[in-house]
Amino acid sequence: MTPAHAAANTCTPFDVELARRFPADFTWGVATSAYQIEGASSADGKGPSIWDTFCRVPGAIGDGSTGDVACDHYHRLDADLSLIASLGVNAYRFSVSWPRVQPQAYGRWNEAGLAFYERMVDGLLARGIQPWLTLNHWDLPQALQDMGGWASRDTVHRFVDYARGIGQRLGDRLAGLTTHNEPWVVATLGHELGIVAPGDKSRATAAQVSHHLLLSHGLALQALRADRCRPRLGIVLNMAPMVPATDSAADAAKARLEDGRLQRWYLDALFRGRYPEDVLADLGADAPRIEPGDAAAIAQPMDYLGINYYTRNLVSAERHVEPAARGLPVTDMGWEIHPQGLTDLLLRLHRDYPVPPMLVTENGAAFRDTRQGGVVQDDDRIDYLRGHIAAAAEAMRRGAPLAGYMVWSLMDNFEWAFGYAKRFGIVHVNYATLERTPKASARWYTAMLDAWRRRPVRASTGQ
Ligand code: FCB
Repeated sequence: MTPAHAAANTCTPFDVELARRFPADFTWGVATSAYQIEGASSADGKGPSIWDTFCRVPGAIGDGSTGDVACDHYHRLDADLSLIASLGVNAYRFSVSWPRVQPQAYGRWNEAGLAFYERMVDGLLARGIQPWLTLNHWDLPQALQDMGGWASRDTVHRFVDYARGIGQRLGDRLAGLTTHNEPWVVATLGHELGIVAPGDKSRATAAQVSHHLLLSHGLALQALRADRCRPRLGIVLNMAPMVPATDSAADAAKARLEDGRLQRWYLDALFRGRYPEDVLADLGADAPRIEPGDAAAIAQPMDYLGINYYTRNLVSAERHVEPAARGLPVTDMGWEIHPQGLTDLLLRLHRDYPVPPMLVTENGAAFRDTRQGGVVQDDDRIDYLRGHIAAAAEAMRRGAPLAGYMVWSLMDNFEWAFGYAKRFGIVHVNYATLERTPKASARWYTAMLDAWRRRPVRASTGQ
């Protein structure tokens, strides 16, 4: 019995119907990022990243842990690639650790680091899986942070150099190349609220950082295209519908501003070549310094837009009330489970912006999994994934150009400021032995993908 057949009985008639709503060329994946799974934090010439530093700040990480070992993916690459292939996905989204390939600030390349990612890409292709590579999933080289990090305009040019080097080395074999993962998190959580690396607390710095991230995205796309880099080029944004908690005017105004900060700031810059007036006005003297030509440089055409969706936000002008306290269903992160928000978000993007094909590049949930007799029966995660895949199908039916969906995450991993306390994987990781065990949700996903592969051919659309 193949893994797919063994799993087939986990799929309901609803799931089979759901799978059949997706076209033949749909991208189905699982996603990870370098710092969260690789470990090997100083192996083979890797330099420190800002996360290596941040994890050592007392109190920064909830459980006091670091990514030094994480899932030890660096030393288990081949087995992990076979694990990914066993799931039946056709795509894998991963990130390159910038300090693994450029340990210092001055662009010297670390051949051992490049060779690791080359083995990754070739190993994926050999297994029939599209490689989707992210350049910046938050782990900036510490050497660049020491020179000002993303607050410094010089880092923009370092990033372009890094992007070109990766493009030249791997571009001929990648399906997709993403500049940044969630620039809002780097800017706002990293530089204004101080809860992720590098842990700054300045609104003005955060605004400048967001501008530099966007500018580096645009300039990198220009450079990669000039180099005739082949993969589809894009960016990944974290998005959440901002919904006023009541029908008061104050809640509506607050929700509009929050929408501006999280969504329109990035979307308007990328698709309209300007920042939204209301957010600029709110920033006042904290608004970023923008040089002539920056806006046009940012607004480069993209081949795809990646969306990370987990929840919606209920916005209150007065006191924030957690979703659980409102009696809403939540994950172990306390995030409301609201699949409809994904439909709303994809339709809104399609309506308000000239978006290229979109991919849900992250969607998934942390739950308090229990492992009994070697089995993790995570029915809550299956329900979450089923609901969100159905919500994606609904957005597609109503016209949103959706090209792919990727589960966060392949396996349990280092969840940033929460350390190892939150488990998002569809594969369980025993952190004492590093043993991987696919959860019921992994078997469910495999079965759903099997049903998708076997869907009847529709003559009218040629699928
Ligand atoms: C996203 C991050 C990803 C992971 C999930 C839960 O914001 O991109 O690395 O931590 O949240």
